Amino acid sequence: MNDLTRRKVQQSYGKAIINKKDNTNIAVMSEYSSEDADDELLSQSFGCGNPLAFSKLKEGDVVLDLGSGAGLDVILAAKRVGEKGLVIGVDMTDEMLARARENVESEKLTNVELRKGYIEHLPIEDSSVDWVFSNCVINLSPQKQLVFKEIYRVLKPEGQFVISDIVVEKFPPFLRLFRPLLTACVAGAISEEKYIKTAQEQGLQGLKVINRMIYEKSQIKQIIEDDEIPGLKSFFSALPRFIQNWLLRQTAGAIVSVKISGSRQATPVG
Ligand SMILES: C[S@@+](CC[C@H](N)C(=O)[O-])C[C@H]1O[C@@H](n2cnc3c(N)ncnc32)[C@H](O)[C@@H]1O
Repeated sequence: MNDLTRRKVQQSYGKAIINKKDNTNIAVMSEYSSEDADDELLSQSFGCGNPLAFSKLKEGDVVLDLGSGAGLDVILAAKRVGEKGLVIGVDMTDEMLARARENVESEKLTNVELRKGYIEHLPIEDSSVDWVFSNCVINLSPQKQLVFKEIYRVLKPEGQFVISDIVVEKFPPFLRLFRPLLTACVAGAISEEKYIKTAQEQGLQGLKVINRMIYEKSQIKQIIEDDEIPGLKSFFSALPRFIQNWLLRQTAGAIVSVKISGSRQATPVG
């Protein structure tokens, strides 16, 4: 990602969290429920799944969340690993980090650290975390191989990861040129096969797709109409109706939320 595109992505997410849009529908589509968190926290979700729901986190574990946003997954993880554990959230956007800090404080959690940084160059020591999570972030990186290399580097030898992310199949290539579609987690996404291969090439093992959710036309329409993704509704509304319909037809069934698990070693412990 060149610096300008990265700044635009930062600005979009910065504005999105400051504008306090209600993203509850995104949280519900991502399979969070009111048992996971209160309405206020759920309404700040920009995820595409609930990766923690697919993990066996233990008390005392050290957890890293890549692109931690307003802190929903960080907070859920912190409650599960307890006082003896530690959860580190890394994000590049100041406004997201500020909101996450407020949210962590209001939950009175003392086992969370929020660090500013890029997922391609993590501010994290080698072999230091038991779990890596990420929710709808790696698709945004044009350097996915670096991100997976970093995941490998920071995981303890027995460490594991669960990632929720968007992959696309048969996506019209020219649509990748539109920045609002990048911020919408679509234009930077690659196919599931390529995603898994990229992770494997960096040494990650045992990759498994544990869940897939294909976005249907009605869901894509709802996401656009609800105006929950930065810049998407204004981009879409400015298009002539026939192009809007064409876009919906092209993207329906082509955008998939996947949950992928794996580990640093072939046989993780626990
Ligand atoms: C789609 S939001 C997901 C936020 C959060 N994981 C959630 O589920 O609500 C993407 C987040 O990743 C951050 N981000 C995007 N690219 C990043 C990068 N290269 N390094 C660090 N953070 C990044 C953005 O600032 C934003 O907070």
